[in-house]
Amino acid sequence: MRVAVLISSRGSNMQALVRASQAEGFPAEIVTVLSNNPDAAGLEFARQHDIPAKVINHRDFDNREDFDAAMSDYLAAQKVDLICLAGFMRLLTPDFVNRWRDRIINIHPSLLPAFKGLHVHERAIESGTRFTGCTVHYVRPEMDDGPIVAQAVVPILRDDTTDILAKRILVQEHRIYPLALKLIAERKVRIHGSIATISDAAEVEGSLTNPQVID
Ligand code: GRF
Repeated sequence: MRVAVLISSRGSNMQALVRASQAEGFPAEIVTVLSNNPDAAGLEFARQHDIPAKVINHRDFDNREDFDAAMSDYLAAQKVDLICLAGFMRLLTPDFVNRWRDRIINIHPSLLPAFKGLHVHERAIESGTRFTGCTVHYVRPEMDDGPIVAQAVVPILRDDTTDILAKRILVQEHRIYPLALKLIAERKVRIHGSIATISDAAEVEGSLTNPQVID
């Protein structure tokens, strides 16, 4: 499976995907890293790992439609089968999402459908909820919506700051994003309406929700 990873800045999830994909026998290949931000730190990592790193700067376009069309054309030319959004901070037009329907996934640092949108860690702490986490999901035109592929649960501890909580969640993001990509590339994930199911997953389903590593 030919995969593009879209980033806007740090790119630590992209790095986790690249590292996983370079393991022997991994069923997907990261064929390009695409950023809307020419200064995204993750671009350097991609170049160092011999992955074509492409910038399509949204500021060079008059409107969202033209920017998204340029991205679509590039991704189609690269013969991309699956797009992984990994800290990509631009809203996508419905046209883009529909053109790549069921071929775009995203990672979000909460247990969706709770805490969609921005300032997620701060809002989770302020809500008083005891648990949050992260979610890999297929992308639909509505923000942070779409069939859920993988989640991990992370506790919120009494003295957590947003930074401490974000770091604890990030550990889990780096675990479940490669796992979700692997399952999709192995064609084990099926979409039924708003639900994604994983075939042959008696043992993986536990690991998709099990927090495992908690600092
Ligand atoms: C991650 O927390 C991800 O869940 C969210 O944006 C952040 C990106 O971090 N969508 P990175 O660029 O992958 O390090």
